[in-house]
Amino acid sequence: MSSTSHMKTHNSNVCPDWLLRQLTEDWEHDGGQLRSGNRTVPIIGGIPRFVADESYSRGNFSKLRDEFPKLQLDNVAGGKLRMDTILDRTRWDPSVFQDKLVLECGCGAGPDTQILRHLGSRVIAADLAGVDTARANLAGDEGAAFLQASIVDLPFKKASFDIVFCHRVLQHTPNPDETLQHILQFVKPDGLVFVHSYARTIQQMMHWKYVLRPITTRMDPDRLLKCLRWTTPPLLGLSTALRKAPPEQYLGKLLMLLSQNIIPVYNRRFARGYGHMDSETLKEHAIHDTFDALSPKHDHPMSAKRMREIASTCLNQPFEIEERGGITLLRSKVQS
Ligand SMILES: C[S@@+](CC[C@H](N)C(=O)[O-])C[C@H]1O[C@@H](n2cnc3c(N)ncnc32)[C@H](O)[C@@H]1O
Repeated sequence: MSSTSHMKTHNSNVCPDWLLRQLTEDWEHDGGQLRSGNRTVPIIGGIPRFVADESYSRGNFSKLRDEFPKLQLDNVAGGKLRMDTILDRTRWDPSVFQDKLVLECGCGAGPDTQILRHLGSRVIAADLAGVDTARANLAGDEGAAFLQASIVDLPFKKASFDIVFCHRVLQHTPNPDETLQHILQFVKPDGLVFVHSYARTIQQMMHWKYVLRPITTRMDPDRLLKCLRWTTPPLLGLSTALRKAPPEQYLGKLLMLLSQNIIPVYNRRFARGYGHMDSETLKEHAIHDTFDALSPKHDHPMSAKRMREIASTCLNQPFEIEERGGITLLRSKVQS
């Protein structure tokens, strides 16, 4: 089978190099399923389902996909928020992505998948849940394949991908150390990696979300979302009012810190990349992001030191670690 061949069935659509040539040939395609030994994996809606969609993320992440299926897509939101974020965090030239086969770990609704495609990569994107939303958001794009699978147990052979890409997901797995070790094995020896995690810093751990999470993670997600729909408008109003003082003055700085660290809402009004959005859209982002922070069962940030230790045992290629603004980044160094 040629590397560009596609599976053609009535619900076709599983592509990138026909799912890395049926997960590098251990799996047979048999009607609507993949089979390897005694194990069968159904292909439903063009997506192989290695795990059932009844994971912990059903209540929270898949709820986000149902409620806000397109909110984070650059091509819907206008602007270049995702594109700029990816290029800023990877520090790679856009040309680096051209013609690469990317393993995207935890694609959500597919906002990054769209960007990776736009930059010329072919993408295999895995998520536990919500992959149908991502598939719909990239409808008709045969350069992206989705699979419903856990990134702690991916069905690929080692060293299969040009790029391993994991953005805003690591901390949501039960054991980020093990997850990081697991996903890094899929990059080719001369390939590239980009991994993002929330940072384990004192300032980050004192953030309001870690104060509230012991309560909110025990709440019914529907109820939590209803609560946020109710509390977000006044909290946004308060947070915006506190930001009125000029931030270059002492009082302005203090109020800004108060607004960011004490008031339990994500107010993006003053953030880079959101300037073109109207108040209603900013409110939807605030509800989405606050729910995203408060509902996931797992939120285990990783320190730069730990990320460096793991990367040095798993990678042979040059990499760098950066910690800034509450996030830890691992990225391959790319020679210019
Ligand atoms: C905050 S979202 C980020 C999604 C996307 N990367 C983005 O930046 O928009 C976290 C995603 O991780 C997924 N996730 C959490 N644990 C996972 C696991 N073990 N395997 C695959 N996906 C997982 C969730 O379902 C969710 O879609």
